Amino acid sequence: MTAATAGGWPPLRDELRGIEPYGAPQLDVPVQLNVNENPYGPSPACVADIATAAAEAAVTLNRYPDREFVALRTALAAYLSKDTPAGIVPEQVWAANGSNEIMLQLLQAFGGPGRTAVSFAPTYSMYPEYARDTNTRWVAGRRADDFTLDLDAARDLVKTEQPSVILLPSPNNPTGTALPPDAVGMLCEAAGDHDVNGIVVVDEAYGEFRRTGVPSALELLSSYRNLVVTRTMSKAFAGAGLRLGYLAAAPEICDAIRVVRLPYHLSAVTQAVALAALGHAPELLGKVEDLRRERDALVDGLRAEGYDVADSDANFVLFGRFADRHAVWQGLLDRGVLIRETGPEGWLRVSVGTPDEMAAFRAALTDVDGERA
Ligand SMILES: Cc1ncc(COP(=O)(O)O)c(C=O)c1O
Repeated sequence: MTAATAGGWPPLRDELRGIEPYGAPQLDVPVQLNVNENPYGPSPACVADIATAAAEAAVTLNRYPDREFVALRTALAAYLSKDTPAGIVPEQVWAANGSNEIMLQLLQAFGGPGRTAVSFAPTYSMYPEYARDTNTRWVAGRRADDFTLDLDAARDLVKTEQPSVILLPSPNNPTGTALPPDAVGMLCEAAGDHDVNGIVVVDEAYGEFRRTGVPSALELLSSYRNLVVTRTMSKAFAGAGLRLGYLAAAPEICDAIRVVRLPYHLSAVTQAVALAALGHAPELLGKVEDLRRERDALVDGLRAEGYDVADSDANFVLFGRFADRHAVWQGLLDRGVLIRETGPEGWLRVSVGTPDEMAAFRAALTDVDGERA
């Protein structure tokens, strides 16, 4: 055996061999409701500002960008401050290329060999991959049948596993379930109550879609130094193509992440475009109210037709249950509607789109279900 073939080729880590790269199918069909994007694009005025900002950044591209992205952190802090009476200062904010990169940086800094990350299934399917990629041990507890957290079981798991990172999507993907503040507080206390001094990451990628009266975990930041709240411009801000995720946490957590981030990880163009988009926040977020209404109508409509539907605080809805969910997914796709085959067996997830897209989805579902009957 030669040196080139001894361990297989290419010399991929053993645990990565045979693994398919993560990603929902990207299919060119008329109605795309599978990755929880915002169906409404930016206005011509916003596009014009973004183009100007990108052009101004282009003039500087011979230089590395601001490594600390101070202007962007300041704007993000001002935006987040609306969700907490204590306010957020720029030193409490960090950003990266999507909240996916934020999570990876968090696990690079706070996970690693000999350490454990915990979440509660069903949960965001990328989390185990971040754990794998950072050699962090992965433990998934379970949510209750209604997808809420059983607080006693969660506390016991944290006590037993002593994680250095707890990952809690709220609203949860794929179920849409938001966590009550007492659950977050309890887990922050439990995580800090053992030798590892773990952090609790509340992933609010869909936070802006939460129903009236559901608070953001940002309100708890001043009470728990081990709490991290992540957000993204991919969903409510209609900026999935921008790749800008961010977090709010104690300044020492932001400082710790600076140790693992790649130098200049946020390009000058990304910083400029994100700032320009933030300047249009009221307009970009203006569609959130429409999407929330559309979501609530979808939940009610599906329930009226006899489906099981999880309560949703997000811009998607988990519904079922199907003896053969793949057949339903395929039937919808055959009718030009792409949704996501994800979550517990028997359930499917559909993103909230425009009224026309939702009408197309409902008509296709009636058709597919009629065929099955
Ligand atoms: C719960 C959750 N967190 C994080 C992300 C990552 O979003 P992004 O990397 O686009 O910010 C997603 C994307 O779908 C998500 O569902």
